[in-house]
Amino acid sequence: MSSVAQSRRTPPEQAAGASARSGPGEEAAGPAAVRLSEVSKVYGRGPSAVLALDRVSLTVAPGEFTCLIGASGCGKSTLLSLVAGLDQPTAGSISTEGRRVTLMFLAQDADVLLMDEPFGALDAMTRDLLHEELERIWGQQGLTVLFVTHNVREAVRLGDRVVVLSSRPGRVIEEYRVPRQGPRRIDSPEVARLAATITDRLREEMSRHGD
Ligand SMILES: Nc1ncnc2c1ncn2[C@@H]1O[C@H](COP(=O)(O)OP(=O)(O)OP(=O)(O)O)[C@@H](O)[C@H]1O
Ligand SMILES: [Mg+2]
Repeated sequence: MSSVAQSRRTPPEQAAGASARSGPGEEAAGPAAVRLSEVSKVYGRGPSAVLALDRVSLTVAPGEFTCLIGASGCGKSTLLSLVAGLDQPTAGSISTEGRRVTLMFLAQDADVLLMDEPFGALDAMTRDLLHEELERIWGQQGLTVLFVTHNVREAVRLGDRVVVLSSRPGRVIEEYRVPRQGPRRIDSPEVARLAATITDRLREEMSRHGD
């Protein structure tokens, strides 16, 4: 990992494990690059209507790298498309405070980068290299990142915070701060330990839901 990555900005609070302040996903009052307030999204109408997101509140601080994890179909891509402005919420509000938001990787002139499972199909070596590259660009450009993945270790490897959504309809059920103490490796014991905790939480949610 590059020295740039090691010296990048970190959020003020660095306690390991779950942190609940205003509620999972919500930061205490402060600057926000992205703020979702009680956002719900319904697709379709009548008996076939699908509630994809259910009152999601999530605040991402400027420069923060937030990873979103949740079962398939819980609304992760829906959430990103709403933040990108590609679709409108059915209820609630989303604010990006005039920042330039992009769904593209390596896009120019973005303040907020939204990534939807960008490395899912890659071999491990290439993925590791792209993690380092993403971390470098993030550190250099001071980006805010909202990153969706099914890979819990990847979320812990990259994120300042891992936000767990419930099975559909998606709600924020837990968040985990990831301590940033020097270079991280996806195969390190620290990453593995927190990933195991998060995986247990996901499994608990999925069995509750019957996934
Ligand atoms: N345009 C649409 N019209 C109708 N239903 C939709 C539409 N887009 C998504 N959905 C439904 O909304 C729910 C959430 O979908 P979404 O794609 O956001 O989930 P996801 O968490 O990204 O899933 P995955 O992990 O498989 O990518 C799913 O039940 C999906 O079928
Ligand atoms: Mg998706």
